[in-house]
Amino acid sequence: MTGKIYNFSAGPAVLPTEVLEKAQNELLSLDGIGMSVMEISHRSKHFEAILSSAISGIRELLNVPKNYRILFLQGGASLQFSMIPINFLSKNEAADYVVTGTWGKKAIKEAKRCGGVNTIFSTADTNFRSVPAQDELRFSENASYVHYTSNETIEGVEFKYDLDGRGVPVVCDASSNILSKPIDVEKHALVYAGAQKNIGPSGVTLVIIHDDLIEKVPENQHSMLDYRALAENNSMLNTPNTWGIYIINLVCEHLKKHGGLAQMEKKNEEKAQLLYDAVDASEGFYLGHADREARSLMNVTFRLPSEELEKQFADEATAQNLDGLKGHRSVGGIRASIYNAFPKEGVQALVDFMKDFARKNG
Ligand SMILES: Cc1ncc(COP(=O)(O)O)c(C=O)c1O
Repeated sequence: MTGKIYNFSAGPAVLPTEVLEKAQNELLSLDGIGMSVMEISHRSKHFEAILSSAISGIRELLNVPKNYRILFLQGGASLQFSMIPINFLSKNEAADYVVTGTWGKKAIKEAKRCGGVNTIFSTADTNFRSVPAQDELRFSENASYVHYTSNETIEGVEFKYDLDGRGVPVVCDASSNILSKPIDVEKHALVYAGAQKNIGPSGVTLVIIHDDLIEKVPENQHSMLDYRALAENNSMLNTPNTWGIYIINLVCEHLKKHGGLAQMEKKNEEKAQLLYDAVDASEGFYLGHADREARSLMNVTFRLPSEELEKQFADEATAQNLDGLKGHRSVGGIRASIYNAFPKEGVQALVDFMKDFARKNG
């Protein structure tokens, strides 16, 4: 180890040190049972206790009502792009999609294979800088569901409200802001999130699904794509990602111990504010990508006056132990991902670096 690295990676991303240390301590022998969590059967009482605790942890943190099931699936958030339409969108039906960034576009691509897609709102023309206000959304009559992405990780734009489907079931890709703040689960029929930003390691996808939606799963569905079968088998239709679920459980315990999601939101607001203030104070040297009202608390995206300077910025930052700041390959620029576990001191270190860099190169 060469000193402390501040890890701004968009995901897989930084995890709480406390969680990593606990996992390290228990790596060879879970709770004194003499075996690693990776070596025991998913049907063992030890693992069942971990699964059950992880489910309760998510339920408690997000205040998930009893008539929703909590699943830990595989295939990433990307498989949900397909599983949702495979189950809830047939050839003669249409679903509404709200597109505010790259991931929403990808979700549509998969949905189109199954049935009709109405893009009821898209910010593509303005390069994904904003999100619609609730009143700007007009849902289609008989839409099977409406899909939105609560935080677009690549562009750094975030909804500041939970979308209300006005009777249309709401499906939310919350991969990059789940557990960063309280949400109203009851406004949604299904919320999904790849774990690798705020919940745990990659390889597990959290799905929170309303019982009524489970009822709509078609008969004779392929088992591994069948939300009903997955729910009936408590996410253990096949061997689940036991290690991932174990870490998720530790992350939940950690979040509960540190004040839950209200406290996370407060901290996340403070961290993001520090960074956006640095962008705004730079007199145009740094240009934020997202419109002010849509600025993400999780992924702070900005440009510099030239691509050369952006490269130099990322390289010099890396040399100063500020890692992972290069923007996504599809859009360039700089992206600082500051999920729950990212420390405020790291944000301050980046702000100091930004000031210094602008002074030398502005
Ligand atoms: C908002 C969002 N949706 C979906 C995905 C895809 O997730 P996965 O790699 O788990 O399939 C990502 C990944 O970064 C994401 O940020």
